[in-house]
Amino acid sequence: MKRAFQSVKYLCLAGIAAGLAGQANAEHGDLHDYAHSEEAQEYIHGDPEQPTDTWTLSAGGRIYDNWWNALDREPPETTHPSYPAAGAQSGSTTWRCKECHGWDYRGAEGIYSSGSHYTGIKGIYGAIGANESAIAELLRGPDHAYTEDMIDDEEMARLAAFVSRGQIDMSRYVNLETREIRWGDLNRGRAIFQSVCAACHGFDGRAYDWGDDGEHAYVGTEAAAAPDEVMGKIMNGHPGVAMINLRAFGPEAAHDALSYSATLPQ
Ligand code: HEC
Ligand code: HEC
Repeated sequence: MKRAFQSVKYLCLAGIAAGLAGQANAEHGDLHDYAHSEEAQEYIHGDPEQPTDTWTLSAGGRIYDNWWNALDREPPETTHPSYPAAGAQSGSTTWRCKECHGWDYRGAEGIYSSGSHYTGIKGIYGAIGANESAIAELLRGPDHAYTEDMIDDEEMARLAAFVSRGQIDMSRYVNLETREIRWGDLNRGRAIFQSVCAACHGFDGRAYDWGDDGEHAYVGTEAAAAPDEVMGKIMNGHPGVAMINLRAFGPEAAHDALSYSATLPQ
């Protein structure tokens, strides 16, 4: 299905998008300035005529990360009805799959077993191999309450495919107890970074800075602090921007790129 793109902001800003791309919106942690050119709109929010499984799974992974940025919708203003009252988060972020189930897909048994993202909710790791229609149905049910206006049926099918077939075993790449990287091949990672990532992030990963309050957040900063999150970004792309992803080359390539990224300036 081709859905009319909802956000005109992107089109109006097309001319100055390139200049703005590096500016972070300081107020909303993960809501940066997502202005981008009209040419990029199709790659970011559209879908190919003959989608491969690789494309579908990475698209589903971006919905898992942040569905309204991935799908060009308005973020909900409420707190998700299943978000526990004792949890430290509130508002739209509680509607992100990752907020309850984690970047490592293990929920309360993984990195979110403590800290400001703790919810006590289990992960989705147990749903690997589950029936995709059943997953989609679950997400429309009372525990989840995702309406068709939020995520339509075709998009939900991508998300369900990701849950069933697109998860990786994060414990191979990141120590889930200490949140430290398990190092991959730094030479291969450097080669990937210099020839792929550097096109946008620069050779030292500092071309974009999405930090706020005078604190920098470069690729290097984030890869060292939150390698599980960055592994997801490299496997699926960052929702709402024209970032590439490495899913077609497999998780080992992504892991090498992650490892080298964590050695870059912070
Ligand atoms: C506000 C918290 C919250 C959010 C956000 C959330 N879920 Fe859940 N999810 C739950 C709860 C609660 C359960 C039930 C856990 C249980 O049975 O112990 C659950 C269960 C699941 C299960 C079943 C896991 C299993 O092994 O039985 C899947 C799959 C799932 N969620 C996927 C998603 C996806 C995909 C998204 C994003 C669209 C999402 N969830 C967003 C709270 C959430
Ligand atoms: C075609 C351009 C492009 C390429 C190539 C690219 N990225 Fe990005 N990436 C972006 C943009 C744009 C953002 C969003 C920046 C912002 O939010 O200010 C981003 C964001 C990120 C983020 C931060 C996500 C967050 O949580 O805010 C990480 C980490 C990242 N990229 C890593 C990589 C790595 C590693 C590679 C190579 C495998 C790569 N990127 C390749 C464009 C690109």
